[in-house]
Amino acid sequence: MDGIAHTLQSRNITTFRIEVFVLNRSSLLIIYLKLNFTVILADQKSNQIPRYCIFESLNWNMQTPVEGFSKLSKEEKIQWIAHNCTKHPEATKKLLQQYWNADPQLQTVHDEFIENTLSNYYLPFAVAPNFLINGKLHTLPMVIEESSVVAAASKAAKFWHSRGGYIAKVLDTEKVGQVHFMFHGDKEALHRFIAQIRPKFFEDTQVLTRNMQKRGGGIRDITLKDKTNTLPGYFQLHCTFATLDAMGANFINSCLEQFAKTLEREAEAHGVGLEILMSILSNYVPNCLVRAEVNCPVYEEESNSGVSLNFAERFVQAVAIAQAEPYRAVTHNKGIMNGIDAVVLATGNDFRAIEAGVHAYASRKGQYSSLTHAQIENGQFKFWLEIPLALGTVGGLTSLHPLTKLALEILQDPSAEALMQIVAVAGLAQNFAALRSLVTTGIQQGHMKMHLLNLLNQMGASAAEKKELIGYFTDKTVSTAAVKEGLELLRKK
Ligand code: HMG
Repeated sequence: MDGIAHTLQSRNITTFRIEVFVLNRSSLLIIYLKLNFTVILADQKSNQIPRYCIFESLNWNMQTPVEGFSKLSKEEKIQWIAHNCTKHPEATKKLLQQYWNADPQLQTVHDEFIENTLSNYYLPFAVAPNFLINGKLHTLPMVIEESSVVAAASKAAKFWHSRGGYIAKVLDTEKVGQVHFMFHGDKEALHRFIAQIRPKFFEDTQVLTRNMQKRGGGIRDITLKDKTNTLPGYFQLHCTFATLDAMGANFINSCLEQFAKTLEREAEAHGVGLEILMSILSNYVPNCLVRAEVNCPVYEEESNSGVSLNFAERFVQAVAIAQAEPYRAVTHNKGIMNGIDAVVLATGNDFRAIEAGVHAYASRKGQYSSLTHAQIENGQFKFWLEIPLALGTVGGLTSLHPLTKLALEILQDPSAEALMQIVAVAGLAQNFAALRSLVTTGIQQGHMKMHLLNLLNQMGASAAEKKELIGYFTDKTVSTAAVKEGLELLRKK
């Protein structure tokens, strides 16, 4: 069937129309139905619009891979997904379209963030007020799906506001990237060679680094690292950078790829036999470090300016357990990341990079451990966090997503260093709120109180029923069963 394919088109499965097109074999894309089959034709070279069948009620067999999907229009992708992967294609299409932005220009901005976009996936954008950080009051924008996180942050902000607030300090801002290569020759000769060509790395990247240097950043250092004890023949150029208010991924990767080209060229010219494998930034940035702290006096009883001895002791013990025990440390740190990710997401930063780097840091001593620390010393309770955070306030999503811009505006347009401090505080506050609940009331009381609305929504409660039941549960324990029972009782009235 070289050059020829069949398209079946029908809305009514009993009547088929058959069309014949002349195309290359490579442009064919075949999807099998359980009972029938159709052929999608997509001439990729001429961008001809693909033709495909629409069977409203048939169950498609998904075993055949789809080719050329990326070349389909958004509407065609929706058709394909609705008819191939969902039980109710029309409902799927309606749902996906329901989440489109009414402003087509704005929708295009969102469509173009990623590939194969079908719709938008909403997460709540919230704020937690009253954060006193280094004497300045902040309201933190937070994007997260989990109930009680924002309330917990807000409560922790309020708690520490009357106790002197949060103190935050950036310890360093060093970013890292590496050129990985293999070399099996004389190690001493390699060291001499790299030292000899070192200035060329800087010269060859001048065009890339000029602007960053003008602002005070650029390449900090390039060192040869012998990693042959971990992997035979493995060496790297370990490079450090200062990227100021940019997260710096593009800048770093561009510099690294130029270093690799320079290294390859010079190696060839000097007859040094090495093989470059790859060049990429590292999301492990143990020297891009920020510290956040709270402290207050310890009294017999809690007051507006301090905490009770009993609470402080239980709290310190809870942190000690997270330091000693990896099972607990993971959950403890997850609680910290509730706050960190929420602000990182709101400000358009890369939460996967942050997560990966933070958890590597939590394991740096050979065992996964708590990121926070607590102590009672000379009548003072002290609770602090040290964490690596490579954040940006310019470039990337920060200049594209309107809500990210708003988040940064709410934060008074911080520098990357100021944002590092704010994000670290969000993590510390979140951990404080969770531990405070854990060592006093237990987590479920507050968490379920906040989760009540989700449960009521799941059960299809009306606005009036929600209002009534929120009142009813103010002095009762929230659980799925109790809410169900409460709603049933209300409906019987
Ligand atoms: P509460 O004492 O019942 O709250 O605490 P309240 O009604 O008395 O209000 C006190 C303040 O809390 C409010 O002050 C707000 O700041 C905040 P106000 O605004 O009235 O001046 N607040 C709220 N903010 C916004 N919306 C609300 C709201 N309610 C209170 N609806 C609370 C309730 C949930 C705050 C408390 O119980 C708490 O902090 N619990 C901890 C919850 C938590 O950590 N959630 C994270 C999810 S659980 C998890 O994933 C982490 C974990 O596993 C980590 C670990 O194990 O370490 C726990």
